[in-house]
Amino acid sequence: MKIGNQTVISEFLLLGLPIEPDQRDLFYALFLAMYLTTILGNLLIIVLIRLDSHLHTPMYLFLSNLSFSDLCFSSVTMPKLLQNMQKEYPSIPYAGCLTQMYFFLLFADLESFLLVAMAYDRYVAICFPLHYTTTMSPKLCLSLVVLSWVLTIFISLLHTLLMARLSFCADNVIPHFFCDMSALLKLACSDIQINEMVIFLLGGLVIIVPFLLIFLSYAQIVSSILKVPSARGIRKAFSTCGSHLSVVSLFYGTIIGLYLCPSANYSTVKETLMAVMYTVVTPMLNPFIHSLRNQDIKGALGRAFSKQTIHFSLGQ
Ligand SMILES: *[C@@H]1O[C@H](CO)[C@@H](O)[C@H](O)[C@H]1NC(C)=O
Repeated sequence: MKIGNQTVISEFLLLGLPIEPDQRDLFYALFLAMYLTTILGNLLIIVLIRLDSHLHTPMYLFLSNLSFSDLCFSSVTMPKLLQNMQKEYPSIPYAGCLTQMYFFLLFADLESFLLVAMAYDRYVAICFPLHYTTTMSPKLCLSLVVLSWVLTIFISLLHTLLMARLSFCADNVIPHFFCDMSALLKLACSDIQINEMVIFLLGGLVIIVPFLLIFLSYAQIVSSILKVPSARGIRKAFSTCGSHLSVVSLFYGTIIGLYLCPSANYSTVKETLMAVMYTVVTPMLNPFIHSLRNQDIKGALGRAFSKQTIHFSLGQ
């Protein structure tokens, strides 16, 4: 394709993970196993929450949304990564690259907003236990989920349209395993000032604001526990908030480490490994973090596998 005297790129080359050729099969198996674990773990959470009426509470409905988001998030990058690991020439068409970027941002931001909704839910549950059922009404929960979707659709569409304006000329090699927005910007040969400004502004909205809101909710939770310290209250707070807090730290820890503290000597290898952390490892661990120490989910799992539930749900 040629426009004027400028070559227009029709596909990108995804360099993938920095691994030696003789270790490729090993890593292929490892990543395939991690992807399957992610899919199965998150599907299990969604199905359990759907089937068990004990789990039809705001906290678990948000968790089920989060699992759905995790499942989609890893499906944006993993199948292409696995496919490219098997190919000599790991390419992705231009349109495919923008599509991948769109959905990557969509589910990453959705996850961020859902984590805020979950933190707000815990805040109301612990600080205003008596008003919990009236405050966290099904209507409010649905509104929070819909708002998260609307915001994330708008934000990722804006980033993608701004990226589609840019022209790419000579260099089409992405030193990454998916079409990362910042890696693509480095390849563009037109002016990227607007893109950088929008990333800076919306990045604040999507990373800093949710992080602050979550931090505030937990600050309130901690201070309300310290006001009336009781062993029971502390145990309750830890059991319901602990898993959420671990997910939050895992998610924001890697993102903040990557985007807000980019040191000059960060090699591409390090960046890629961090990206593996939040695109592959975090969505895989989320369902386990939520279910391992959670009595409700364990109970639901037990009920789902015992005959009693079958009779119970058949009798309903
Ligand atoms: C997401 O949350 C909403 C509102 O709480 C709920 O109605 C819906 O079933 C959830 N979706 C999934 C996939 O769990």
